[in-house]
Amino acid sequence: MTDSVLLVTGGGSGIGRAVALLAAKSGFRVAVLARSADSVRGVADEASRLGAPKAVGIACDVTSEEAVVAAFDVAEERLGPLSALFANAGIEQPRLAHELSLEMWNAVIATNLTGTFLTCRQALRCMLKSGRRGSLVLCSSPASFAAFSGGGASSYSASKGGISSLMRTLAVDYAKYGIRVNAVVPGATDTPLTWAGLSRDQKDALRRTLSEEIPLGRLADPEEPAEAVLWLLSEQARYVTGSHLVCDGGILAKASISA
Ligand SMILES: NC(=O)c1ccc[n+]([C@@H]2O[C@H](COP(=O)([O-])OP(=O)(O)OC[C@H]3O[C@@H](n4cnc5c(N)ncnc54)[C@H](OP(=O)(O)O)[C@@H]3O)[C@@H](O)[C@H]2O)c1
Repeated sequence: MTDSVLLVTGGGSGIGRAVALLAAKSGFRVAVLARSADSVRGVADEASRLGAPKAVGIACDVTSEEAVVAAFDVAEERLGPLSALFANAGIEQPRLAHELSLEMWNAVIATNLTGTFLTCRQALRCMLKSGRRGSLVLCSSPASFAAFSGGGASSYSASKGGISSLMRTLAVDYAKYGIRVNAVVPGATDTPLTWAGLSRDQKDALRRTLSEEIPLGRLADPEEPAEAVLWLLSEQARYVTGSHLVCDGGILAKASISA
């Protein structure tokens, strides 16, 4: 994998960080992107300690077209031609639709959906320019397929549904160039996004509720969806494109009726 260059957006924490570190251990050269310069520098340092041939942290807001183009330029200059992308940066603004401001809606769509488009577009441009085969993994969610019974996920669900549709279209459009495009579907995962804005008591209560509801009886560790991402990026998945790899502890397999 030492000639494989992976760029991870939202790599400063959670699932993105886990993917960057697992990829580093597997020999990828890794570019880690997020808005916080400190967090991406920290993860790039960890990746280097784990043996990444080269790792770089780049502060980048994926909602900015200019910032995304500039970040890919820096990544390729430092690491070589890109061969893999994990388009993962995401936020959530839980609020019932009638209480959701246009500003909040726009923030979620801009980060999750437009940010994914901008990073995929730049990755495709890089791969077409270098003539390399490549692999893109997008980050979807069970919210792309079913409503959360907790409620209030309208902007998040719309953004993730868009990501799933974008993934299928890109997979078909770029198959002829040898570029594969898939999506991972992490279930409830133990990351800062899951616990954002909750007090300790609320967090404990949510962990209990989720553990009762999830068929496998617990949240995922970030390394678990990360392993699914690494598989999608690998040669073992060479005939897989346009697919969702669900890593959700059984959430989507279960109807939430108590009858
Ligand atoms: N946790 C779950 O249960 C779960 C389940 C299904 C899917 N997912 C998806 O998994 C992905 C990663 O989430 P996570 O759970 O690992 O949460 P997380 O730990 O909060 O990670 C989100 C990452 O995205 C970055 N980010 C946010 N806005 C950004 C922007 N505008 N530009 C660049 N980076 C940005 C954050 O860093 P900065 O704030 O420094 O930018 C952070 O590094 C998201 O797409 C999420 O929807 C999560």
